[in-house]
Amino acid sequence: MIIAIDGPAAAGKGTLAKRLAAHFDFAFLDTGRLYRAVGYLVLAAGGDPSNEGDAVRAAQTLDPAKLDSVDLHTEKIAEAASQVAAIPDVRAVLLDFQRAFARTPPGGKTGAVLDGRDIGSVVCPDADVKLFVTARPEIRAERRHKELQEKGLESTYPAVLAEIEARDERDRTRKVSPLLTGDACEIDTSDKTPDAVFDETRAYIEDRST
Ligand code: C5P
Repeated sequence: MIIAIDGPAAAGKGTLAKRLAAHFDFAFLDTGRLYRAVGYLVLAAGGDPSNEGDAVRAAQTLDPAKLDSVDLHTEKIAEAASQVAAIPDVRAVLLDFQRAFARTPPGGKTGAVLDGRDIGSVVCPDADVKLFVTARPEIRAERRHKELQEKGLESTYPAVLAEIEARDERDRTRKVSPLLTGDACEIDTSDKTPDAVFDETRAYIEDRST
């Protein structure tokens, strides 16, 4: 079984995806991490994330396991991720890995949960369940700002809101694999607790698989 979860930045996709994977004992892949890792590698090499040559070279040498100890959750890396993600050849390089993960989940698991921007539309268009998780931008910025502060990172609410809005705009308007709801079931998490979102989606998935 494949569960595809897409949506804009900081909408609660990751939290939901991890909980669903744990509940159903499925493998979990945070595909944003792949783009963040490429962005990080470009920056670390002193390159430009919007330069096709720099970004494609980084994608080709990517070994996500090697970046386990690197904190990829800074806003600088998020911005670089969204720049490299707009380059078609970067997406092409990362596609096979994502599809193979979904088709043959590691650890002999019987299913996979993938979260990202184009899982239901491009990576796994035949996914059994497609969810589009969203929330109002102000709420998403508030959550991300709190998260960054809790990690002891410097952050201001207006800067986070501006960064999230710029990233959403780039992700929604790019030519290749733009963020779109498509035929997914939309879940607005703005006024819901993580528990409520989990209960609702678990029930939705169980209904569809019986
Ligand atoms: O989900 P996360 O915030 O970690 O994603 C970082 C960036 O990676 C996104 O803003 C988006 O540009 C890109 N991304 C993508 N396709 C995916 C996952 C992430 O383009 N499937």
